[in-house]
Amino acid sequence: MNESLSEIESRALRELVAVSGDEALEAWRVAHLGRRSPLTLLLRGLAALPLDERKSAGAAANQLKQRLESAFEARKEELAHSLTEALAADRIDVTLPGPPLPAGRLHPTTQTLRDVLDCFVSMGFQVVEGPEVEWDRYNFEALRIPRDHPARDMWDTLWIDYERDGERPMLLRTHTSPMQVRVMEQTEPPIRVVVPGRCYRYEATDPTHEWMMVQVEGLAVDEGISLSDLKGTLTDFAHRIFGPERRTAFRCDYFPFVEPGMELRIDCFLCGGEGCRTCSRSGWIEILGAGMVHPEILESVGYDPERYTGFAFGMGIERIAMLKHGVGDLRLFFENDVRFLEQFG
Ligand code: DAH
Repeated sequence: MNESLSEIESRALRELVAVSGDEALEAWRVAHLGRRSPLTLLLRGLAALPLDERKSAGAAANQLKQRLESAFEARKEELAHSLTEALAADRIDVTLPGPPLPAGRLHPTTQTLRDVLDCFVSMGFQVVEGPEVEWDRYNFEALRIPRDHPARDMWDTLWIDYERDGERPMLLRTHTSPMQVRVMEQTEPPIRVVVPGRCYRYEATDPTHEWMMVQVEGLAVDEGISLSDLKGTLTDFAHRIFGPERRTAFRCDYFPFVEPGMELRIDCFLCGGEGCRTCSRSGWIEILGAGMVHPEILESVGYDPERYTGFAFGMGIERIAMLKHGVGDLRLFFENDVRFLEQFG
């Protein structure tokens, strides 16, 4: 009798360890503690035993019943517990911020170009574009820079390998100024345009020179346009791009297509005008070339220079971006090193 009890116990406990899930647990309970379980049958059979045997066997069987019942409760508890743990481990916190997605951004010169164009558009200028492969006629001749004129030295040129009448008439435009003439040929005043675009120069690269750059040209032609319009427009521009605290100054300069010609400077934002390396000890930084459109050019496109006057200006966007962001080497803008580019915007 005792042996059979221990068999019941060991089998029951062995099976209980293997039980997982509510259904299996209930099946175990029915099998080992239910009405037809060996233990229950055994307890029922006790009645047939003689009194003294019945006593000891009954006590042993009842203790076993209690042990199985508490083992059952413990297992039930254990299973419930491990389920909560599993659920807790699997829990996803949907309120956590996700991993950052890599986001692109605009190149610093593109940002600067857009700022510059926005500024002029808000003053009523229209944005137009022109060809990068240009005729000598527009790039130079129509701008009062004939062949063999010393002013050509201002623009070292990349020529297109195409000859006509022993000359090469095509080139990569060295500046956006040819669009002044193209626009005037096609339109009547009033004109207010800004022309963004790539320009090319046959030039060795150094911290302030590249063989390719982006310029923005400006042109305003109308009745009664004077030098004060030029100064007002460009001073406002300089303040919007470099900050209202900048001082501005115009100084005479020579460009064959304007008369008078000038450059616009701002006081050096590094030294505040004291003189430092960035401003070559002058206290001033040149930001663009400008002037009143030469009357001969107005005449050449069929405008009456007695009636119409205009101003023009041109600037290098990389230079403006360098000055805005304090970048010391223009070539950095073209290297596509994201460690450099990531600093902007
Ligand atoms: N095209 C000139 C250059 O590349 C810049 C310039 C100067 C443009 C004076 C102008 C101007 O329109 O009036 O150096």
